[in-house]
Amino acid sequence: MRALRAEVDLNAIRHNYRLAKAQSPQSKAVAVVKANAYGHGAVRVAQALAAEADAFGVACIEEALELRQAGISQPIWLLEGIFAADELALVEQHQLSMAVHCPEQLSWILAYDFSQPVDMWLKLDSGMHRLGFDPHSYRQAFQALQASGKARVLGKMTHFARADELDHDYTRKQIERFMQVCEGLPGPVSLANSPGTLGWPAAHGDWLRPGLMLYGISPFEVAHPRADQLKPAMRLVSELIAVRELGVGEPVGYGGRFVTDKPMRIGVVALGYGDGYPRQAKDGTPVLVNGCLTRLVGRVSMDMLTVDLTDLNEAKVGDEVVLWGEQLRTNQVAPYCDTIPYELVTKLTRRVPVHYSE
Ligand SMILES: Cc1ncc(COP(=O)(O)O)c(C=O)c1O
Repeated sequence: MRALRAEVDLNAIRHNYRLAKAQSPQSKAVAVVKANAYGHGAVRVAQALAAEADAFGVACIEEALELRQAGISQPIWLLEGIFAADELALVEQHQLSMAVHCPEQLSWILAYDFSQPVDMWLKLDSGMHRLGFDPHSYRQAFQALQASGKARVLGKMTHFARADELDHDYTRKQIERFMQVCEGLPGPVSLANSPGTLGWPAAHGDWLRPGLMLYGISPFEVAHPRADQLKPAMRLVSELIAVRELGVGEPVGYGGRFVTDKPMRIGVVALGYGDGYPRQAKDGTPVLVNGCLTRLVGRVSMDMLTVDLTDLNEAKVGDEVVLWGEQLRTNQVAPYCDTIPYELVTKLTRRVPVHYSE
């Protein structure tokens, strides 16, 4: 068996959820566990948070039903609402909370005969221009839902496009637009994703929606006093399965992308793009061997990748290799792979067994 595994610390996730709530003690917080809890395992994460999370957030009804089937009884938000009218029966049956972001969804809801009302979050497009009613039609949609009596809670929500950029004023503009359009409309509000929670107090509102930060990953590219209190929840670990000595001028791996410029020791690690490690990882991408920082060299293959052991004389077959974790953050790795930490953790494949600790 390969030594490859993702170790997930559920205690760290609880710590990070509490850190989110501590930013705004009067607010509730939806723990966003879509996309299999960003690769950490939706059911296990939801179970770990079940005693304290105010609600969970998912992208679609399939993800919500997985949680209900696992016994999760908290409110579950469908962050994109329903994709077809026939999902409303399931929404009602499982008492799911749904975003309502477009006229089609609104008309399906208005036409549906609910036997009991459900919670709805009417979404405003405050500037992301992806989902949401535009400012001119928002109040009318709100009033239609209100008059229908089909919403138990009728909340107002929006989503930020650039909240991770703390020195950019687009988020302030989105907040202003949201407040302006929603002025005087009753009910709770929800604006803040992880960067909104950590970096934009004016966006806290009644319900936070932290996702990335729950997994201990900073949404910011730069150091940040509150984000720095996050505890990384995942450690991606494998081991050396071969070590070889090469002379000068020897190519390593497919395509010979990396060529030795001196006599080198090269280690082969059991992990590749078939496990979700990005093939785009460049020469120089940081990795830890026995806790020592070194670098990836050569192209990532499907099941293996190669690392520089030249300065790690002691390193041998069976030694531990950490691709990310407490000592090497996904934020440090992602730029070498032309991606963001969100994608690194979410893309791990089912070949990577997840080992949980409490
Ligand atoms: C509507 C909505 N709210 C909250 C989140 C959580 O965002 P983040 O992971 O940046 O905290 C997402 C994720 O994309 C989302 O789509």
